[in-house]
Amino acid sequence: MSDDPKWLAAKAAMVEVQSGMRLGLGTGSTAKHFVDLVGAAVAGGLDVICVPTSEKTAEQARSLGIRLTDLETTPELDLTVDGADELGPGLALIKGGGGALLREKIVAAASKRMVVIADASKRVETLGRFPLPVEVNHFGIGATSAAIVRLMHDFGAEGDLRRRLKADGTPFVTDGGHAILDAFFGRIPRPEAVAKALADIPGVVEHGLFIGLCKRAYVAGAAGVDVLDG
Ligand code: A5P
Repeated sequence: MSDDPKWLAAKAAMVEVQSGMRLGLGTGSTAKHFVDLVGAAVAGGLDVICVPTSEKTAEQARSLGIRLTDLETTPELDLTVDGADELGPGLALIKGGGGALLREKIVAAASKRMVVIADASKRVETLGRFPLPVEVNHFGIGATSAAIVRLMHDFGAEGDLRRRLKADGTPFVTDGGHAILDAFFGRIPRPEAVAKALADIPGVVEHGLFIGLCKRAYVAGAAGVDVLDG
């Protein structure tokens, strides 16, 4: 484990965690390491209560004996630690490669502080090479898709919009029961404008642009872990 950059980033972020905290637990392969580390710390006496960002993370946390709550009982969290698909200037992010973007964004926004853990391959000069996940309601999905395609055209997207499928070819469904459309922008030089325009489309439940949410990133590369502050 010790030379896996995802594990190194997760380990570095453990300095943020203190007993008594209310924690948001991210989703994905990097966040999975963090949840394992929190589980080991809990077994050693750390007292935290956590809100998971997906059913998968909830299952992992439960198996490790981590105490869980929800945002109804605990509407404000001290810290959320999560992975990212891309990390751009100003710590703007693309998230949702695992399909958990809606809960991830709600949990991050409910936290006093959000920290990202990632390997160095996630750092980019311009967001958009990673297809931007857009979570949409099933009702009217054709009309919603057409509106997103028009938006992509307006913002100079290089690629198309694709319904996310599972490995067996059936449509992917999020924990919230929605569909995911992956928008192949190629480049998103104005993420704030794209975020706002997407949020204005009826049927869009949430999108994977996280802007102004991440305060710090632990990014692990060959030379060690860089700490980036937003
Ligand atoms: C889950 O929906 C995502 O936002 C993940 O946090 C993101 O895809 C990063 O995943 P990895 O840590 O597996 O690369």
